[in-house]
Amino acid sequence: MSKFWSPFVKDLVPYVPGEQPKLAKLVKLNTNENPYGPSPKAIAAMQAELGDNLRLYPDPNGERLKQAVADYYGVTPAQVFVGNGSDEVLAHAFHGLFQHGRPLLFPDISYSFYPVYCGLYGIPFEAVALDEQFQIRVEDYARPNGGIVFPNPNAPTGCLLPLTAIERLLEANPDSVVLVDEAYVDFGGETAISLVDKYPNLLVTQTLSKSRSLAGLRVGLAVGHPELIEALERIKNSFNSYPLDRLAIAGAAAAFADREYFAKTCQAVIASREAVVAGLQQLGFEVLPSAANFVFARHPQRDAAELAAQLREQGVIVRHFKQARIAQFLRISIGAPEQNQALLDALQGL
Ligand SMILES: Cc1ncc(COP(=O)(O)O)c(C=O)c1O
Repeated sequence: MSKFWSPFVKDLVPYVPGEQPKLAKLVKLNTNENPYGPSPKAIAAMQAELGDNLRLYPDPNGERLKQAVADYYGVTPAQVFVGNGSDEVLAHAFHGLFQHGRPLLFPDISYSFYPVYCGLYGIPFEAVALDEQFQIRVEDYARPNGGIVFPNPNAPTGCLLPLTAIERLLEANPDSVVLVDEAYVDFGGETAISLVDKYPNLLVTQTLSKSRSLAGLRVGLAVGHPELIEALERIKNSFNSYPLDRLAIAGAAAAFADREYFAKTCQAVIASREAVVAGLQQLGFEVLPSAANFVFARHPQRDAAELAAQLREQGVIVRHFKQARIAQFLRISIGAPEQNQALLDALQGL
């Protein structure tokens, strides 16, 4: 703390990202990155962009990327917003769409950035308890609110809410924005983007960090009614009008266009997930049903924090949250087959 800090900064409780270790040899299964590289076409598009043009500012609106996303989902570019990672897109949504004085609702077990943004933007919130099976109960959201946000599949549980339930939520809350954070949807969910023409209060966010393996590029997006998108544009243009650089726009657009590589790598992750679930169950773990590129598992006889520490000694890092209800769970990202095997071998020896 310093005397130069404003009282606002003193009171902030920032988000703590998963560890990015400096040791190269670790089996890194703690931040849900994709074990396969980005599309070779995305790499080529970025390489083609590397040159004299970098002296020029990028397109502030990232039109090329908006068009690629619009083509992929069959929407118009006016329904698409792009930003520097979905974290930034979420921040703008919180700032521009959730500050209504009424509490924002999100699950008690959910993405831990949501309460951080509430703190940053002064948004009151209520954490709504998931049920005993860690599922969202739509009925529990039938209360006055200034908005609703949840990841689907949820993080860190991996559990999926079906589109029919999302429609019930949208219909019950016509006067607030329902934000579906689809960071992991490509690994087993169905996107709610198909509903944006029907529900003007629906905003869907996605990221290229997971299923398109571009966490290092920092690209996220939102799809929704043009008026919701305009709110995000107004915030963005009051904060940083060039959030995506030239490489990011080119690489992300090419990644969206390469459907074949995307489908192949998602399928490989899904197949590995099923193998990891089976392996963990054989070792006595209970594993929540996952539609994501990670699994959430607990061992009835073993302490999760201790397991995480012991795994680390064996060179395998997974994520453990010191949080009520989930303190006995480990969140384990799905890696390449040899990494998954290293995890199972390490657990076997503990
Ligand atoms: C649920 C959820 N939403 C959003 C994000 C942010 O992703 P990014 O900022 O890399 O797009 C993450 C990252 O882990 C996440 O788990």
